[in-house]
Amino acid sequence: MKPYIYVTRKLPEEVLSPLQEKYEVEMWDDENVSVPREILLTKAKKAAGILSMLSDPIDRELFEQSPNLKVVANLAVGFDNIDLEAANEKGTAVCNTPDVLTDTTADLTFGLMMAAARRLIEADKFVREGKWKSWSPLLMAGTDIHHKTVGIIGMGSIGEAFARRAKGFDMNILYHNRSRKPEAEESLGARYASLEELLAQSDYVVCLAPLTAETKGLLQKEQFGMMKSSAIFINAARGPIVNESALYQALVDGEIAAAGLDVFEKEPIDETHPLLSLDNVVALPHIGSSSVETRIEMMELCVSNIKAVLEGDTPKTQVNK
Ligand code: DGY
Repeated sequence: MKPYIYVTRKLPEEVLSPLQEKYEVEMWDDENVSVPREILLTKAKKAAGILSMLSDPIDRELFEQSPNLKVVANLAVGFDNIDLEAANEKGTAVCNTPDVLTDTTADLTFGLMMAAARRLIEADKFVREGKWKSWSPLLMAGTDIHHKTVGIIGMGSIGEAFARRAKGFDMNILYHNRSRKPEAEESLGARYASLEELLAQSDYVVCLAPLTAETKGLLQKEQFGMMKSSAIFINAARGPIVNESALYQALVDGEIAAAGLDVFEKEPIDETHPLLSLDNVVALPHIGSSSVETRIEMMELCVSNIKAVLEGDTPKTQVNK
């Protein structure tokens, strides 16, 4: 019997073809809905490998019920949906998709910042709704990006790629990170700052940190209160880094000017989410790495990691050694 691999979302058949000869590969056959928990657990019980999405909780219960599971390849750089401790106890390799998505995610984050600053979504809606009756000097006037100060929380590879884009726009760059980044300091002129200093001095606060025990709930009422009233907050990392009701209140009270959000505390959100009632919020459905080219590369990397582990080779991007 061929070892069984479960893919938790419908992916293009051709991406999975390198697995098909040696393995029995089954996919959850819906592009738009996550695999229900019960089905995931049932499939995992017989799986040697799982190709998972960031929205699938790959938790202790799943690991404990899956005696054959050798590898979980997550289609994301973040792996906060996976219980690494349980994976380690079971000796299951966990792989992610770093590097291939760095520039694409930095592009989206920069675009999100521009959209929030220059009110692109509001302006598009204004035109579509037939409200554009004349040109006027301050019509949909936003705020500048060039020569402003951006504070990047989380200076990993995506943070650095974002900083390169910011340098191209003549921005002053501050960053806050677990460790100093001498190369970014030298080549981009980025300056390390405490979180407090970054929040107080930045015109744009951009969150690109991974979700960990240290970053969960990092931005609360107090932190929004430290920002400039003209500040624009961007989150393209993970929703739970931010206390969303504190963010909502800060926007309503004018403690900050606007927000661009690609991620939310609980995803997906629906149209009744309070943040969507605010015109100064740009909301995206977690599409940081979503270009066709990059998503295909991410899928191929997952396939290569699964193959490597099941065939006794070293996977390219394993997060637990
Ligand atoms: C990731 O890969 O972790 C990103 O959030 C996807 O957009």
